[in-house]
Amino acid sequence: MAGPLPIGEPAPSDGSLPNQVAIDASSRTLHAYLHIPFCRVRCGYCDFNTYTATELDGVSQSTFAQTLIGEIALSARVVSDAGLPKRKLASVFFGGGTPTQLPASDLVAILSALRDAFDFAPGAEITTEANPDNVDVDYLQQLVGGGFNRISFGMQSAVPEVLATLERSHQPANVPSAVTAAKEVGLATSVDLIYGAPGETLEQWRESIEAALSYGTDHISAYSLIVEEGTKLARQIKSGELAEPDEDLQADKYELADQLFAAAGLNWYEVSNWSRNSATASAHNVAYWASQDWWGYGPGAHSHFGGVRWWNAKHPAAYASKVAANESPALGREILSDQTRLEERVLLEIRMSQGLSIDLVKQLNADHAKLISTFIADELIDARAAIGGHLVLTLKGRLLADSLVRQILA
Ligand SMILES: C[S@@+](CC[C@H](N)C(=O)[O-])C[C@H]1O[C@@H](n2cnc3c(N)ncnc32)[C@H](O)[C@@H]1O
Ligand code: SF4
Repeated sequence: MAGPLPIGEPAPSDGSLPNQVAIDASSRTLHAYLHIPFCRVRCGYCDFNTYTATELDGVSQSTFAQTLIGEIALSARVVSDAGLPKRKLASVFFGGGTPTQLPASDLVAILSALRDAFDFAPGAEITTEANPDNVDVDYLQQLVGGGFNRISFGMQSAVPEVLATLERSHQPANVPSAVTAAKEVGLATSVDLIYGAPGETLEQWRESIEAALSYGTDHISAYSLIVEEGTKLARQIKSGELAEPDEDLQADKYELADQLFAAAGLNWYEVSNWSRNSATASAHNVAYWASQDWWGYGPGAHSHFGGVRWWNAKHPAAYASKVAANESPALGREILSDQTRLEERVLLEIRMSQGLSIDLVKQLNADHAKLISTFIADELIDARAAIGGHLVLTLKGRLLADSLVRQILA
């Protein structure tokens, strides 16, 4: 959860939701995100809402699981009082921060509280993010015993110099051993990569891609490095100590990744995500992109139910004191207009390989016919899919997705 929280109206202290969340709710699936805001050290590029032990000042990691369980109890009450239909959780995602900073028994206890409150739909995807440094077979076995079935490791790069520039603490060799251990205990696996660290060459990026592919994971995410305001990396670039990422080189890196992933049988299903098949795509992330309902638990977490969005107090201490007082930790909320909901759908759905419905473009842009033909002529979208009513990005289009969105919403 990068940057400051949005500005909205204050959220009610009992957490109650407006009636509109119940409209059409049975056509939407239910999901849970749990934010674990702890890291052993902070990586120089990261501005997520996460804290190292020295930054925590009065917040105890050992009571955090109980606090999250308190919010889970509140959510069960709020969901039932809002007149929502009974829905089981279709996916659960522990993110951060580094969820695996907590003992496995804490993650299992939190998951068990969610199961008691909502139950899990058959085949529910239960994922945790992990730093390759702090898991071993015993830890992973406890997760599987508690119901986890997927793990996503922050790998970022296989090249020691690049990891050093990113200020990553893990040893490159820990990634394959962590992935192997995860597979051994039966977890589906994913790794995250970052391309564009200052000084990273195309050859170094190829090395990272090939290493990631050699681990045989079911899924890979590859993110273009974002230089976030206020991070150490941003300061190093500003002072000239490190070079700014080069846009053309970033595009070459994206193309190389797509080509090597596809050759290895991993196909894109979202601009930054590749999977072996639709069953190994991240069901949880797909739910975000399809504007389903999710409750985000933990400090700074965002939730969304049927066009109502709310967000929790950002600091773990402020969050914990609300939950301890039996109050909702939500700080603000926003009730999205129909127009904003349509615009958000464009932003999210255009990034998916299944594409954006051209009907949606028609609703938002009077000049849609001309726009679509220009996109086809410029080879930004697939002509055959467009005839079938879907706007599906080509490789060139994926590199320019934001510009297409701006033109559609102009
Ligand atoms: C919460 S972390 C994953 C788990 C664990 N904290 C770790 O880093 O190993 C989520 C992912 O966000 C990505 N990320 C974080 N900051 C980023 C940035 N500034 N630019 C691009 N990707 C970023 C990284 O790939 C990271 O793996
Ligand atoms: S370990 Fe992950 S969440 Fe923590 S600072 Fe690094 S990238 Fe951010």
